Amino acid sequence: MQQDLAKKAAGEAAAAYIQPGMTIGLGTGSTAYYAIMRIGELVRNGMQLQAVATSAASEELARAQQIPIIPFEQVDSIDLDIDGADEADESLQLIKGGGGALLREKIVAAAAKEMLVIMDASKLVKQLGNFPLPVEIIPFAWELTFRHLEQSGASPVLRRKEGKIFITDNGNYILDCHYGRITAAPELHRQLNDIPGVVENGLFLRYASRLLIGYADGSVRSLS
Ligand code: A5P
Repeated sequence: MQQDLAKKAAGEAAAAYIQPGMTIGLGTGSTAYYAIMRIGELVRNGMQLQAVATSAASEELARAQQIPIIPFEQVDSIDLDIDGADEADESLQLIKGGGGALLREKIVAAAAKEMLVIMDASKLVKQLGNFPLPVEIIPFAWELTFRHLEQSGASPVLRRKEGKIFITDNGNYILDCHYGRITAAPELHRQLNDIPGVVENGLFLRYASRLLIGYADGSVRSLS
């Protein structure tokens, strides 16, 4: 599929930013998959590096590729975080969390010196908000949190997978919040994280240092 070729181009292009000895943050999702596979090749070809993973799925994939994974308590600093996005604008603001890993992804992005965002060109938008904003909430009294989120102007939908409520790696729920257009992202970010029961939201406003935008012909545009 064309979109997969574009994701592969972007994911593999991230390898050029990796130096021996780095601690790498491994993102989550179908684009991060290609980056992890490429990093696995680097490791098997002898490059020394270590990594932390933003989800159980990425950790499992990385271990299968022989990428050394270190526990967070052993992390001094993360040199480079490589992760996907659901939407990005030209100011490098992102929506993430389509795969449900936004909380760990944000913790890793915040700890990283640089964040490289790998994405296919369809995700570059003029204004964030067409993709429903994922908000991670604790299960306790989630219906009250849902109502608070409705008051923020969203139309929240409790995420489900295969007929069951989707549970994050942290044991929480996700509400996908349809805003249509997000015109004041910093204010919305603050407002959402002020709601009791909200753990984190999928707006990544000041973390990305570069977008690597892949196209189906294999070319990659870099935006920083
Ligand atoms: C995971 O929770 C997300 O933040 C992903 O990084 C994002 O959804 C991009 O995923 P794809 O690369 O699969 O589109």
